Amino acid sequence: MTEVTLAVVGGGLRGLTYARHAHATGAGRVVAVADPDPRRRAIFAAEFGIAPEAAHLGWKELAAAGRVADAVVIATQDRLHTDPAVTLADLGYHILLEKPMATTEPEAAMIAEAARRNGIMLAVCHVLRYTPYTRVVRELLEAGRIGRLVNAQHLEPVGWWHQAHSFVRGHWRRQDTSAPMLLAKSCHDIDWLVHLFGRPPARVSSFGSLSHFRPEERPSEAADRCLDCTLEPSCPYSAPRLYLGCLDDPRREFWPLSAVTPGRTEEDVLEALRTGPYGRCVYACDNDVVDHQDVMMEFDDGATCTFTMSAFTPMEHRRTRLFGTHGYIDGDGRTLRVVDFRTGDEEVIATDVAGGASAAGGHGGGDAGLTDAFLAAVSSGDPALLRSDAAESLMTHRVVWAAEQARLTGSVVTLGPRPGIPAH
Ligand SMILES: NC(=O)c1ccc[n+]([C@@H]2O[C@H](COP(=O)([O-])OP(=O)(O)OC[C@H]3O[C@@H](n4cnc5c(N)ncnc54)[C@H](O)[C@@H]3O)[C@@H](O)[C@H]2O)c1
Repeated sequence: MTEVTLAVVGGGLRGLTYARHAHATGAGRVVAVADPDPRRRAIFAAEFGIAPEAAHLGWKELAAAGRVADAVVIATQDRLHTDPAVTLADLGYHILLEKPMATTEPEAAMIAEAARRNGIMLAVCHVLRYTPYTRVVRELLEAGRIGRLVNAQHLEPVGWWHQAHSFVRGHWRRQDTSAPMLLAKSCHDIDWLVHLFGRPPARVSSFGSLSHFRPEERPSEAADRCLDCTLEPSCPYSAPRLYLGCLDDPRREFWPLSAVTPGRTEEDVLEALRTGPYGRCVYACDNDVVDHQDVMMEFDDGATCTFTMSAFTPMEHRRTRLFGTHGYIDGDGRTLRVVDFRTGDEEVIATDVAGGASAAGGHGGGDAGLTDAFLAAVSSGDPALLRSDAAESLMTHRVVWAAEQARLTGSVVTLGPRPGIPAH
């Protein structure tokens, strides 16, 4: 396979993850980076041996240099995907674009149109599509092992501390600076369910709210910061317990700790908790995204699916039950139990999961699988190696927007005649 040259826009946690895997396999070589944070830019450039003139202040400066690589990884924060994606598509780059594609439907449509008109490959980082587990589930369904899929039940256990880290104190806590929870987090799950059913739903409804991480839930004795709080030792959401516990564990130092502080000593962590957003009481933040949400989907043949995201779980792999006309699959993200109603036979299939469910664990092999597939697609010029293209990702994002519209309006939203396009 010919080595693919890569530029990386956003040398943060996700940009580093993809770049490291590309380098480790030898399938890709990072030749340019763009990041306005001087520290991150310097560390990134040093790690990948990027020449000073190829370490740019931002995506615009990278774009001004013309097309300097075969492909670009766009791993900026949610609200900074559209402009770099459209501009770099127009320069002819193939694009690995972090999810969500964009935070509004018109912007996501602009990105898909830019990919189409330039004839480039654009893969949205729906890493769940690329796990060995997903491959086995799809093979079982395609082989007809459970007959026709009639309904499904899918749980995303976000995890209590992960919710507090990312969606109460962290980057994805507010809709106006990031996106609604269903888009920021669970666009993966809606995309995955559409992938399993093989088509978008015809109708969606949704319920959910921010029920716990709000000022009304705050105990009267609680302080604004954990370090000043007498209740901290008994609070499930204690920031010192979470972040001091990451020290000396390289995987947890990378995630979640590096979002909190670049330092790796106890004093660095305490200083960040004293002054930064991650030391705040979970009941005294400026968050507004939901902490639990359910989505119901109905497909054109009457098949149904329920999806639940909840903060109030351990952080672990997603769980899914698939109910077919002559069989049943129960999966926990690692192992699948398959029951055949015709024989009563049960088979337990252990899939080859590398790492854990989280970003620190590589999303169950999804980060590596996606990077490998993208680099192979670019190297060979074969888009069929990707498990979704820009148009498919736009369609599954549209299901998310329809579900969020249903939640906000308390209605059932009918999706339009073209796949995944709301009729309104
Ligand atoms: N696929 C997944 O499973 C997954 C998991 C986590 C996060 N994400 C998504 O990945 C994206 C990045 O998340 P992250 O945790 O790596 O964020 P991050 O904050 O660690 O990294 C973003 C980087 O972008 C840089 N940046 C800001 N402005 C820029 C500009 N003009 N040009 C170039 N770089 C710029 C920032 O300085 C920062 O280093 C987000 O959209 C997030 O939702 C996806």
